Amino acid sequence: MIAYVWAQASNGTIGRDGTLPWHLPDDLQFFKQKTLGQLTLMGRTTYDGLRKRPLPNRTNVVLTRRLDYTAPGAVVVHSKAEALALAAAHPEQDLMIVGGAQVFTLFADVVDTLYVTRLAGEVSGDVVMPPLDWDAFERVSARLVPNDDPALAHTFETWQRRN
Ligand SMILES: NC(=O)c1ccc[n+]([C@@H]2O[C@H](COP(=O)([O-])OP(=O)(O)OC[C@H]3O[C@@H](n4cnc5c(N)ncnc54)[C@H](OP(=O)(O)O)[C@@H]3O)[C@@H](O)[C@H]2O)c1
Repeated sequence: MIAYVWAQASNGTIGRDGTLPWHLPDDLQFFKQKTLGQLTLMGRTTYDGLRKRPLPNRTNVVLTRRLDYTAPGAVVVHSKAEALALAAAHPEQDLMIVGGAQVFTLFADVVDTLYVTRLAGEVSGDVVMPPLDWDAFERVSARLVPNDDPALAHTFETWQRRN
């Protein structure tokens, strides 16, 4: 499986100042559940936002063009092809692609499962989710989670690529 895991506001915002613009503990828990034990691929900017601390108990894979980039505790790859080859060499693990926007653009033709957490409200930010070919996918589940702040109510959706 090649999956995307992300959260987005109703206006498409996914990031601000190199990090997430909200704190949603249950979404972090969902993210953890989906990525634990898996190949967890992210762009260099997103990884830097984690202060270059690898997420524990999963294989962190960082995509960068910088040949001299180092990320102790993570695997560094330099191209989409290298990332896909790594995934092919580890069929026992799913390839969970966790952003950011550049990386979501890059793998849009090969992703087969989308895990999106949709916030009800708009949030200001500086990075938005790129367009996806939603017609190529069908929604197979949705679970609404209310919040005291209506803007932070959110829905966990799963989409599968149509055959
Ligand atoms: N809401 C969410 O679920 C979510 C999830 C993830 C991230 N985010 C947010 O998204 C923002 C970051 O997104 P972003 O789009 O700016 O950056 P990004 O996708 O995380 O990383 C971009 C970097 O990836 C590398 N890269 C991109 N395409 C490549 C290619 N074809 N080959 C090799 N390397 C490539 C480059 O690294 P080099 O410059 O080192 O070459 C590029 O600068 C942050 O605010 C983060 O918090 C949100």
